[in-house]
Amino acid sequence: MKRFIIDTDAGVDDALAILMALGQKDVKIEAFTTVSGNVGVDKTTANVLKILDLVGQDIPVYPGCPRPLVCPTYDAASIHGSDGLGDAGIPASKRQPEGKHAALALIDLANQNPGQLSLIAIGPLTNLAAAVTLDPELPGKFAELTIMGGAIYAKGNTHVTAEFNIYADPEAAHVVFERWPKVRVLSWETTMAYPFNGEQVKGFFGMNTPKAQFFHDIYQNTLGFLREKFHQDLLFSADGLAVACALNPGIITAKEDHFVSVELNGSDTRGMTSVDWFGLSGQPANAEIILEIDHARYVEMIEASLQ
Ligand code: BDR
Ligand code: CA
Repeated sequence: MKRFIIDTDAGVDDALAILMALGQKDVKIEAFTTVSGNVGVDKTTANVLKILDLVGQDIPVYPGCPRPLVCPTYDAASIHGSDGLGDAGIPASKRQPEGKHAALALIDLANQNPGQLSLIAIGPLTNLAAAVTLDPELPGKFAELTIMGGAIYAKGNTHVTAEFNIYADPEAAHVVFERWPKVRVLSWETTMAYPFNGEQVKGFFGMNTPKAQFFHDIYQNTLGFLREKFHQDLLFSADGLAVACALNPGIITAKEDHFVSVELNGSDTRGMTSVDWFGLSGQPANAEIILEIDHARYVEMIEASLQ
């Protein structure tokens, strides 16, 4: 049984990713840690608890950093809704989060289960940067780290060359890419290569289950945003794809190992994930970059998670 911790800024695609993680066989989610990103950390924490209520699972949720390490907060409420779940009126949970800070929880859980847990980060990397600063040995205590983040070809979705999770806390991302010897990276460009088309979206929404209804309700805001941008019904789930790749690396059909660093300066390049495609820096590869996936199997995983 593979065991995971998910670090999330629970917005709508995080929610789909979490449903997927909670719905797979042979997978155990040990804990969630939450971070400020799409919306503030109080809301992202509340959102994970709402999702756990929906699926009837009682998994600890540890609230983390309320703001980036250095820069001002930058959110994505215009896409995810002011509550982070599409302002769909999802009822608040009565459950409380844990009292321990996410960064400390990451350290404690890794120490209690050395080499046995894998970490999936689908929000800004603030908690991970704090944790690895407190415990420099932390990367070696996790089996794997999968990150949804970065624009590998510099086609940013938030800033000219930067993807949201990196741009929202570039200093944290810089620390994580520098200190973690090897991370798996699902970029914005790979996400964009695998949209769900209108028919597939209709199929998911029509599954007639409470999870499919939840998915439908929270995504209306985002679908409207995407319809305006692309003039058709389609949907991307960056976090869903990252979690699918972490839970089931068999769906990855092409990947390359390279050295990746995070740019902190430049008016157009702050938050850029610079990839040394041709090994010019002489630095050892620190990232396994996902380039292609088996989309049919990804769709099957989404369907299974909405049952
Ligand atoms: C990432 O940014 C967030 O808005 C999404 O939840 C996802 O983690 C995509 O760039
Ligand atoms: Ca996210």
